[in-house]
Amino acid sequence: MGHKVSLTLGIESSCDETGIGIYSSSEGLIAHNLFSQVKIHADYGGVVPELASRDHIQRVIPLIKSSLSDAKINLSDITGVAHTAGPGLAGALLVGSAIAKSISWSLGIPSVEVHHMEGHLLAPLLEEDCPEFPFIALLVSGGHTMLVDVKGVGDYTILGESLDDAVGEAFDKTAKILGLGYPGGPALAELAKQCKTIKYKFPRPMTDRPGLDFSFSGLKTYARNTFIKEPQNRSDIAKSFEVAAIQTLMIKCRRALEGSEYSTLVVSGGVSANLYLRDTLDEMCKKINARAFYPRQEFCTDNGAMIAFAGHYRLMSKKINSDHKIVIKPRWSLEDLSAI
Ligand code: KG4
Ligand code: ZN
Repeated sequence: MGHKVSLTLGIESSCDETGIGIYSSSEGLIAHNLFSQVKIHADYGGVVPELASRDHIQRVIPLIKSSLSDAKINLSDITGVAHTAGPGLAGALLVGSAIAKSISWSLGIPSVEVHHMEGHLLAPLLEEDCPEFPFIALLVSGGHTMLVDVKGVGDYTILGESLDDAVGEAFDKTAKILGLGYPGGPALAELAKQCKTIKYKFPRPMTDRPGLDFSFSGLKTYARNTFIKEPQNRSDIAKSFEVAAIQTLMIKCRRALEGSEYSTLVVSGGVSANLYLRDTLDEMCKKINARAFYPRQEFCTDNGAMIAFAGHYRLMSKKINSDHKIVIKPRWSLEDLSAI
Protein backbone atom coordinates (compact mmCIF):
# COMPACT_ATOMS: atom_id res chain seq x y z
CA MET A 1 0.00 0.00 0.00
CA GLY A 2 1.28 3.47 -0.92
CA HIS A 3 -0.22 5.78 1.64
CA LYS A 4 -1.53 4.04 4.66
CA VAL A 5 -5.23 3.40 5.04
CA SER A 6 -6.23 2.66 8.59
CA LEU A 7 -9.00 0.20 9.36
CA THR A 8 -10.44 0.33 12.86
CA LEU A 9 -12.48 -2.51 14.29
CA GLY A 10 -14.96 -1.29 16.94
CA ILE A 11 -16.54 -3.52 19.58
CA GLU A 12 -19.49 -2.49 21.75
CA SER A 13 -20.67 -4.73 24.60
CA SER A 14 -21.48 -2.41 27.49
CA CYS A 15 -25.10 -3.40 28.02
CA ASP A 16 -27.60 -5.52 26.07
CA GLU A 17 -26.37 -5.02 22.52
CA THR A 18 -23.36 -6.62 20.85
CA GLY A 19 -22.24 -4.19 18.17
CA ILE A 20 -19.39 -4.35 15.67
CA GLY A 21 -18.24 -1.63 13.29
CA ILE A 22 -15.35 -1.22 10.85
CA TYR A 23 -14.21 2.32 10.02
CA SER A 24 -11.83 3.05 7.15
CA SER A 25 -9.78 6.26 7.09
CA SER A 26 -10.37 6.52 3.35
CA GLU A 27 -13.93 5.22 2.93
CA GLY A 28 -15.62 5.90 6.27
CA LEU A 29 -17.86 3.26 7.81
CA ILE A 30 -17.52 0.10 5.72
CA ALA A 31 -19.43 -2.43 7.85
CA HIS A 32 -21.52 -2.66 10.98
CA ASN A 33 -23.53 -5.41 12.61
CA LEU A 34 -25.62 -5.62 15.72
CA PHE A 35 -27.23 -8.26 17.85
CA SER A 36 -29.83 -6.99 20.28
CA GLN A 37 -30.55 -9.07 23.40
CA VAL A 38 -33.98 -7.51 23.89
CA LYS A 39 -35.79 -10.86 23.65
CA ILE A 40 -33.44 -12.47 26.19
CA HIS A 41 -34.18 -9.85 28.86
CA ALA A 42 -37.84 -9.15 28.03
CA ASP A 43 -39.20 -11.84 30.41
CA TYR A 44 -37.36 -10.19 33.31
CA GLY A 45 -38.52 -6.64 32.54
CA GLY A 46 -34.94 -5.36 32.40
CA VAL A 47 -31.34 -6.30 31.64
CA VAL A 48 -29.99 -9.29 33.61
CA PRO A 49 -26.22 -8.64 33.72
CA GLU A 50 -25.07 -12.28 33.84
CA LEU A 51 -27.29 -13.24 30.89
CA ALA A 52 -25.96 -10.22 29.00
CA SER A 53 -22.32 -11.25 29.51
CA ARG A 54 -22.99 -14.84 28.46
CA ASP A 55 -24.72 -13.76 25.30
CA HIS A 56 -22.00 -11.26 24.33
CA ILE A 57 -19.55 -14.20 24.43
CA GLN A 58 -21.75 -16.16 22.01
CA ARG A 59 -22.25 -13.28 19.57
CA VAL A 60 -19.05 -11.30 19.38
CA ILE A 61 -16.88 -13.53 17.16
CA PRO A 62 -19.63 -14.39 14.63
CA LEU A 63 -20.47 -10.67 14.38
CA ILE A 64 -16.81 -9.75 13.81
CA LYS A 65 -16.62 -12.43 11.11
CA SER A 66 -19.72 -11.24 9.30
CA SER A 67 -18.55 -7.62 9.50
CA LEU A 68 -15.18 -8.54 7.97
CA SER A 69 -16.97 -10.45 5.26
CA ASP A 70 -19.39 -7.55 4.59
CA ALA A 71 -16.39 -5.22 4.26
CA LYS A 72 -14.61 -7.79 2.06
CA ILE A 73 -11.47 -7.72 4.17
CA ASN A 74 -9.55 -10.15 6.36
CA LEU A 75 -8.90 -9.84 10.07
CA SER A 76 -5.21 -9.24 9.26
CA ASP A 77 -6.17 -6.08 7.32
CA ILE A 78 -7.36 -4.42 10.54
CA THR A 79 -4.87 -1.80 11.78
CA GLY A 80 -6.40 -0.93 15.17
CA VAL A 81 -9.01 -2.20 17.61
CA ALA A 82 -11.38 -0.09 19.69
CA HIS A 83 -13.68 -1.37 22.40
CA THR A 84 -16.10 0.18 24.85
CA ALA A 85 -14.27 0.17 28.20
CA GLY A 86 -17.10 1.89 30.10
CA PRO A 87 -19.36 3.03 31.52
CA GLY A 88 -21.45 -0.11 31.59
CA LEU A 89 -21.93 -3.56 33.10
CA ALA A 90 -18.59 -5.00 34.24
CA GLY A 91 -19.10 -8.54 32.94
CA ALA A 92 -20.41 -7.32 29.61
CA LEU A 93 -17.52 -4.87 29.19
CA LEU A 94 -15.01 -7.65 29.98
CA VAL A 95 -16.16 -9.60 26.92
CA GLY A 96 -15.47 -6.70 24.56
CA SER A 97 -12.16 -5.86 26.19
CA ALA A 98 -10.92 -9.46 26.21
CA ILE A 99 -11.65 -9.97 22.53
CA ALA A 100 -10.25 -6.55 21.56
CA LYS A 101 -7.00 -7.06 23.44
CA SER A 102 -6.63 -10.62 22.12
CA ILE A 103 -6.93 -9.37 18.56
CA SER A 104 -4.55 -6.46 19.11
CA TRP A 105 -2.00 -8.74 20.78
CA SER A 106 -2.20 -11.47 18.15
CA LEU A 107 -1.98 -9.05 15.21
CA GLY A 108 0.54 -6.73 16.89
CA ILE A 109 -1.69 -3.69 16.36
CA PRO A 110 -2.70 -0.91 18.77
CA SER A 111 -5.89 -0.96 20.76
CA VAL A 112 -7.84 1.84 22.36
CA GLU A 113 -10.44 2.11 25.11
CA VAL A 114 -13.52 4.05 24.09
CA HIS A 115 -15.93 5.84 26.42
CA HIS A 116 -19.44 4.69 25.54
CA MET A 117 -20.90 8.21 25.82
CA GLU A 118 -18.17 9.64 23.58
CA GLY A 119 -19.29 7.04 21.07
CA HIS A 120 -22.86 8.35 21.28
CA LEU A 121 -21.66 11.96 21.21
CA LEU A 122 -19.67 11.50 18.00
CA ALA A 123 -22.27 9.30 16.24
CA PRO A 124 -23.90 12.25 14.36
CA LEU A 125 -20.51 12.89 12.74
CA LEU A 126 -20.91 9.63 10.83
CA GLU A 127 -23.59 11.31 8.70
CA GLU A 128 -22.82 13.18 5.49
CA ASP A 129 -24.53 16.37 6.66
CA CYS A 130 -22.73 16.56 9.98
CA PRO A 131 -22.14 19.13 12.73
CA GLU A 132 -18.94 21.12 13.19
CA PHE A 133 -17.22 21.85 16.50
CA PRO A 134 -17.90 23.52 18.85
CA PHE A 135 -21.41 22.51 19.88
CA ILE A 136 -23.73 21.69 22.76
CA ALA A 137 -24.48 17.98 23.04
CA LEU A 138 -27.56 16.49 24.65
CA LEU A 139 -26.87 12.85 25.49
CA VAL A 140 -30.02 10.94 26.35
CA SER A 141 -29.83 7.21 26.96
CA GLY A 142 -31.03 4.57 29.39
CA GLY A 143 -28.20 5.36 31.80
CA HIS A 144 -27.39 9.04 31.19
CA THR A 145 -28.93 12.45 30.65
CA MET A 146 -26.26 15.07 30.03
CA LEU A 147 -25.73 18.46 28.50
CA VAL A 148 -22.13 18.83 27.38
CA ASP A 149 -20.07 21.74 26.08
CA VAL A 150 -18.07 20.14 23.27
CA LYS A 151 -15.08 22.15 22.00
CA GLY A 152 -13.55 19.27 20.07
CA VAL A 153 -13.03 15.52 20.24
CA GLY A 154 -12.32 14.69 23.89
CA ASP A 155 -12.73 18.28 25.07
CA TYR A 156 -15.90 17.96 27.12
CA THR A 157 -17.36 20.00 29.97
CA ILE A 158 -20.53 18.64 31.55
CA LEU A 159 -23.00 21.51 31.92
CA GLY A 160 -25.75 19.51 33.55
CA GLU A 161 -26.91 15.96 34.20
CA SER A 162 -29.69 14.02 35.84
CA LEU A 163 -29.62 13.99 39.63
CA ASP A 164 -31.68 10.77 39.68
CA ASP A 165 -33.18 8.69 36.84
CA ALA A 166 -31.91 9.12 33.29
CA VAL A 167 -34.62 10.17 30.85
CA GLY A 168 -34.54 6.79 29.05
CA GLU A 169 -34.86 5.07 32.41
CA ALA A 170 -37.91 7.25 33.20
CA PHE A 171 -39.44 6.22 29.85
CA ASP A 172 -38.73 2.56 30.64
CA LYS A 173 -40.13 2.74 34.19
CA THR A 174 -43.25 4.64 33.12
CA ALA A 175 -43.81 2.12 30.34
CA LYS A 176 -43.59 -0.66 32.93
CA ILE A 177 -46.17 1.09 35.12
CA LEU A 178 -48.48 1.25 32.07
CA GLY A 179 -47.95 -2.46 31.45
CA LEU A 180 -45.83 -2.09 28.32
CA GLY A 181 -42.91 -4.43 27.63
CA TYR A 182 -39.18 -3.86 27.88
CA PRO A 183 -37.53 -1.72 26.58
CA GLY A 184 -40.35 0.68 27.25
CA GLY A 185 -39.21 3.85 25.47
CA PRO A 186 -40.29 2.95 21.93
CA ALA A 187 -43.48 1.24 23.18
CA LEU A 188 -44.47 4.29 25.24
CA ALA A 189 -43.82 6.59 22.27
CA GLU A 190 -46.01 4.34 20.11
CA LEU A 191 -48.87 4.46 22.65
CA ALA A 192 -48.54 8.24 23.03
CA LYS A 193 -49.05 8.63 19.27
CA GLN A 194 -52.72 7.65 19.70
CA CYS A 195 -53.41 10.97 21.44
CA LYS A 196 -53.50 14.29 19.68
CA THR A 197 -54.36 16.31 22.78
CA ILE A 198 -52.61 16.52 26.13
CA LYS A 199 -54.98 15.52 28.94
CA TYR A 200 -52.73 15.87 31.99
CA LYS A 201 -50.38 18.67 32.86
CA PHE A 202 -47.32 16.84 34.21
CA PRO A 203 -44.60 18.95 35.85
CA ARG A 204 -41.42 20.12 34.01
CA PRO A 205 -38.95 19.20 36.76
CA MET A 206 -36.28 21.77 37.67
CA THR A 207 -37.13 24.20 34.89
CA ASP A 208 -38.28 26.87 37.38
CA ARG A 209 -34.77 27.41 38.75
CA PRO A 210 -31.47 28.28 37.07
CA GLY A 211 -29.02 25.60 36.00
CA LEU A 212 -28.91 22.73 33.58
CA ASP A 213 -29.37 19.68 35.80
CA PHE A 214 -32.31 17.33 35.39
CA SER A 215 -34.51 15.18 37.58
CA PHE A 216 -36.86 12.63 36.03
CA SER A 217 -37.83 10.29 38.86
CA GLY A 218 -40.73 12.54 39.92
CA LEU A 219 -42.34 12.29 36.47
CA LYS A 220 -42.52 8.54 36.76
CA THR A 221 -44.16 8.86 40.19
CA TYR A 222 -46.60 11.38 38.72
CA ALA A 223 -47.44 8.88 36.00
CA ARG A 224 -47.96 6.11 38.55
CA ASN A 225 -50.31 8.23 40.68
CA THR A 226 -52.32 9.28 37.63
CA PHE A 227 -52.53 5.67 36.44
CA ILE A 228 -53.83 4.50 39.84
CA LYS A 229 -56.60 7.11 39.69
CA GLU A 230 -57.51 6.72 36.00
CA PRO A 231 -56.23 3.36 34.72
CA GLN A 232 -58.46 3.55 31.66
CA ASN A 233 -56.43 6.50 30.26
CA ARG A 234 -53.18 4.75 29.47
CA SER A 235 -52.46 6.48 26.20
CA ASP A 236 -53.24 9.92 27.68
CA ILE A 237 -50.79 9.23 30.49
CA ALA A 238 -48.15 8.09 27.99
CA LYS A 239 -48.68 11.23 25.93
CA SER A 240 -48.62 13.59 28.92
CA PHE A 241 -45.46 11.92 30.24
CA GLU A 242 -43.69 12.08 26.88
CA VAL A 243 -44.57 15.74 26.37
CA ALA A 244 -43.41 16.69 29.88
CA ALA A 245 -40.11 14.80 29.61
CA ILE A 246 -39.29 16.12 26.13
CA GLN A 247 -40.36 19.70 26.86
CA THR A 248 -38.10 19.61 29.92
CA LEU A 249 -35.18 18.51 27.74
CA MET A 250 -36.03 21.22 25.21
CA ILE A 251 -36.12 24.00 27.83
CA LYS A 252 -32.67 23.00 29.11
CA CYS A 253 -31.21 22.67 25.60
CA ARG A 254 -32.41 26.15 24.78
CA ARG A 255 -30.94 27.47 28.01
CA ALA A 256 -27.60 25.79 27.26
CA LEU A 257 -27.48 27.17 23.71
CA GLU A 258 -28.43 30.66 24.82
CA GLY A 259 -25.79 30.54 27.54
CA SER A 260 -23.13 29.68 24.97
CA GLU A 261 -21.92 31.24 21.76
CA TYR A 262 -22.83 28.12 19.82
CA SER A 263 -25.63 27.62 17.37
CA THR A 264 -25.26 23.87 16.96
CA LEU A 265 -27.01 21.24 19.06
CA VAL A 266 -26.05 17.58 18.78
CA VAL A 267 -28.50 15.06 20.19
CA SER A 268 -27.63 11.41 20.62
CA GLY A 269 -28.30 8.26 22.66
CA GLY A 270 -31.34 5.96 22.61
CA VAL A 271 -33.95 8.61 23.38
CA SER A 272 -32.79 10.71 20.39
CA ALA A 273 -34.65 8.15 18.27
CA ASN A 274 -37.88 9.69 19.61
CA LEU A 275 -39.66 11.56 16.83
CA TYR A 276 -41.52 13.95 19.12
CA LEU A 277 -38.14 14.89 20.61
CA ARG A 278 -36.74 15.62 17.16
CA ASP A 279 -39.72 17.78 16.18
CA THR A 280 -39.63 19.68 19.47
CA LEU A 281 -35.89 20.37 19.35
CA ASP A 282 -35.95 21.30 15.65
CA GLU A 283 -38.72 23.79 16.32
CA MET A 284 -36.89 25.33 19.30
CA CYS A 285 -33.63 25.59 17.32
CA LYS A 286 -35.40 27.33 14.47
CA LYS A 287 -36.67 30.00 16.86
CA ILE A 288 -33.16 30.84 18.06
CA ASN A 289 -31.33 30.43 14.75
CA ALA A 290 -29.65 27.23 15.81
CA ARG A 291 -29.64 23.80 14.24
CA ALA A 292 -29.95 20.30 15.70
CA PHE A 293 -28.12 17.22 14.40
CA TYR A 294 -28.97 13.60 15.14
CA PRO A 295 -27.53 10.23 14.23
CA ARG A 296 -29.51 8.11 11.77
CA GLN A 297 -32.17 6.10 13.66
CA GLU A 298 -30.16 2.88 13.96
CA PHE A 299 -27.15 4.71 15.44
CA CYS A 300 -29.19 6.44 18.17
CA THR A 301 -29.24 3.32 20.29
CA ASP A 302 -26.13 1.29 21.12
CA ASN A 303 -24.06 0.14 18.14
CA GLY A 304 -20.54 -0.78 17.07
CA ALA A 305 -20.24 1.87 14.35
CA MET A 306 -19.95 4.71 16.86
CA ILE A 307 -17.25 2.83 18.78
CA ALA A 308 -15.22 2.17 15.62
CA PHE A 309 -15.56 5.86 14.73
CA ALA A 310 -14.60 7.23 18.17
CA GLY A 311 -11.77 4.67 18.30
CA HIS A 312 -10.53 5.81 14.88
CA TYR A 313 -10.15 9.40 16.20
CA ARG A 314 -8.35 8.22 19.31
CA LEU A 315 -6.03 5.86 17.41
CA MET A 316 -5.06 8.69 15.06
CA SER A 317 -4.13 10.85 18.04
CA LYS A 318 -1.61 8.17 19.10
CA LYS A 319 -2.52 8.62 22.76
CA ILE A 320 -3.28 4.97 22.96
CA ASN A 321 -2.69 1.90 25.00
CA SER A 322 -0.55 -0.76 23.41
CA ASP A 323 0.23 -2.99 26.39
CA HIS A 324 -2.67 -5.34 25.58
CA LYS A 325 -3.95 -5.33 29.17
CA ILE A 326 -7.67 -5.97 29.54
CA VAL A 327 -9.19 -2.71 30.76
CA ILE A 328 -12.73 -1.97 31.90
CA LYS A 329 -14.03 1.20 33.54
CA PRO A 330 -17.63 0.50 34.63
CA ARG A 331 -17.75 4.01 36.13
CA TRP A 332 -15.96 6.56 33.99
CA SER A 333 -16.65 10.28 33.68
CA LEU A 334 -16.74 11.87 30.25
CA GLU A 335 -14.72 14.75 31.68
CA ASP A 336 -11.78 12.42 32.42
CA LEU A 337 -11.11 12.01 28.71
CA SER A 338 -8.22 13.89 27.15
CA ALA A 339 -8.67 16.23 24.21
CA ILE A 340 -7.10 15.16 20.93
O1 KG4 B 1 -28.31 4.48 24.11
P1 KG4 B 1 -29.14 3.30 24.47
O2 KG4 B 1 -29.41 2.29 23.41
O3 KG4 B 1 -28.51 2.51 25.65
C1 KG4 B 1 -27.87 3.12 26.71
O4 KG4 B 1 -26.67 3.50 26.55
O5 KG4 B 1 -28.54 3.26 27.75
O6 KG4 B 1 -30.52 3.90 25.05
C2 KG4 B 1 -31.57 3.06 25.42
C3 KG4 B 1 -32.70 3.91 25.98
C4 KG4 B 1 -33.80 3.09 26.63
O7 KG4 B 1 -34.13 3.69 27.87
C5 KG4 B 1 -34.95 3.18 25.64
O8 KG4 B 1 -36.21 3.06 26.22
C6 KG4 B 1 -34.73 4.56 25.08
O9 KG4 B 1 -33.33 4.67 24.92
N1 KG4 B 1 -35.41 4.76 23.77
C7 KG4 B 1 -36.44 5.62 23.58
C8 KG4 B 1 -36.82 5.48 22.22
N2 KG4 B 1 -36.01 4.55 21.63
C9 KG4 B 1 -35.15 4.13 22.60
N3 KG4 B 1 -37.05 6.46 24.41
C10 KG4 B 1 -38.07 7.20 23.93
N4 KG4 B 1 -38.50 7.13 22.65
C11 KG4 B 1 -37.92 6.29 21.75
N5 KG4 B 1 -38.36 6.23 20.50
ZN1 ZN C 1 -25.77 3.78 24.95
